[in-house]
Amino acid sequence: MITFRLEAAGEAGLIYDLVHQTFGQEAEAILVEDLCKDGDALISIVALDDDIIVGHILFSDIPVGTSKNLLRGAALAPLSVSAAHKDEGIGGGLIMQGLRECRKHGVQVVLVLGDPDYYGRFDFSSSLADELDSPYQGDSFLALELEPGVLEGITGNVLYPNAFKKLD
Ligand SMILES: CC(C)(COP(=O)(O)OP(=O)(O)OC[C@H]1O[C@@H](n2cnc3c(N)ncnc32)[C@H](O)[C@@H]1OP(=O)(O)O)[C@@H](O)C(=O)NCCC(=O)NCCS
Repeated sequence: MITFRLEAAGEAGLIYDLVHQTFGQEAEAILVEDLCKDGDALISIVALDDDIIVGHILFSDIPVGTSKNLLRGAALAPLSVSAAHKDEGIGGGLIMQGLRECRKHGVQVVLVLGDPDYYGRFDFSSSLADELDSPYQGDSFLALELEPGVLEGITGNVLYPNAFKKLD
């Protein structure tokens, strides 16, 4: 049975290995490591099959400066599900658990760079992100309002943590 919970102490190495294997390269695993090291990580959730970590999601603090005010944002990245457990709803479960935690932390906007078809299932939209200036502008740059209407009629600027620069 698959369960979800916040990352526990001592699991960083297991998460590194999972992310590395899932993406087939180290860049995203290093991203997780750097975000945690730099103090930018906000929420880290694992999916467990019995006691084995088979999925992981990270949300980082990402301030969104807007024409009206400064919004509390979270960047969803990366999301990893072990190849052996694809299409079992684990990715979706991690996203839903993560959004629940984001709400508890007072996050107003969540941003992700990802497939619009996949993240659209969770109401992420590229049109919501259209007026937000970021290094990742385009169809895959998606936003979700956790506070309804918070992005309406504003222009803004997304300040990605330094760790993301290594991905460029
Ligand atoms: C993308 C990923 C997180 C999905 O996890 P998952 O647990 O298999 O996803 P779920 O079980 O929640 O959802 C499966 C559904 O999403 C669809 N889906 C999976 N990846 C998709 C993508 N990139 N684009 C569109 N749809 C996708 C599947 O076809 C499936 O559709 P169905 O419900 O109609 O059968 C996982 O495949 C993965 O870790 N991939 C490698 C790393 C990656 O690309 N991460 C995301 C970017 S940060």
